[in-house]
Amino acid sequence: MRIGLLTGGGDCPGLNAAIRAVVKCAENAGDEVVGFHHGWRGVAEGEGATLTTADTKGLLQTGGTILRTALYHPDAHEGGTEAVLATFERECLDAFVVIGGDGTLGAALKLAGLGVPLVGVAKTIDNDVSGTQRCIGFDTAVATAAEAIDRVQTTGESHDRLMVVEVMGRTSGWLAVCAGIAAGADALCLPEEPVDLDQLAKAIGRRHEAGSTSSVVVVAEGALRDQPKEGSAGTRISNGLAERTGFETRLTVLGHIQRGGPPIASDRLLASNCGIAAMHAVHSGAFNTLVSASDTTTELVPLNVVALGPRPVPPALLTVARELTVH
Ligand code: F6P
Repeated sequence: MRIGLLTGGGDCPGLNAAIRAVVKCAENAGDEVVGFHHGWRGVAEGEGATLTTADTKGLLQTGGTILRTALYHPDAHEGGTEAVLATFERECLDAFVVIGGDGTLGAALKLAGLGVPLVGVAKTIDNDVSGTQRCIGFDTAVATAAEAIDRVQTTGESHDRLMVVEVMGRTSGWLAVCAGIAAGADALCLPEEPVDLDQLAKAIGRRHEAGSTSSVVVVAEGALRDQPKEGSAGTRISNGLAERTGFETRLTVLGHIQRGGPPIASDRLLASNCGIAAMHAVHSGAFNTLVSASDTTTELVPLNVVALGPRPVPPALLTVARELTVH
């Protein structure tokens, strides 16, 4: 078989581990993998090249994606979909393995509807793709953010400061909740819940009256999305709390540090599992599917699950966060 492979959307740790697994599994079966650069854009532009296990040597531990990535939806570009279909024919492909978040997988779903045989694998540090428990890259981002919050906490404590840390998550609080709980954040501001700055400032004030001399507030970048936008969520919450509490306040924006660097072991395992599961799906003709992954197992679910939109943070996890923070 000839399999087209691409990574689309924002990068994350573990993409190379997934690429390695796909290529190894394909070679074991005598298949050929054509790697396309820059996601669906590379497919539309015919930017494909054969990938062998020699190309994947040493990849397991590395960050980023050797295939590069881009935010590109074929149907948002004139002739984009036709160009993808033409590449599929010209390259004599039998299937695509598509590694992406909701945007890239949403584009895959449309192409599957046009008869393109493909299997999806979910990746994003936002962990919000519907149909799977775990997305490649999330665990590493949680570990990175939690470690950064730990560091912010000790400097905040030394200076008796209110420390605000903004983490990624445009529409979803998965990363903020998990990193916040793991690092012992004192308060959380999430896209899932309205933020009342007056109430939060009072709660932090009470914490300090009770003896605390510093606090850490973790903010998802999508927090305050119910309020008119003027600056980033981190800036607005940091300024708002400084004004209301009178505490010396500092803001740290973690940014793309959360997406870069090597994957931790659990992401390497997840990405390896997903890559192999995707290839086994291809071999058994189980197309138009998504590899749905939990800690150590995978199963296939219909790809149209991605059309459900972002997977919400479970209420039970929000309850844990509420018990452990002030609000
Ligand atoms: O990968 C998802 C995500 O990390 C979001 O949480 C964030 O808003 C976005 O990517 C930023 O990505 P970029 O800077 O590449 O547009």
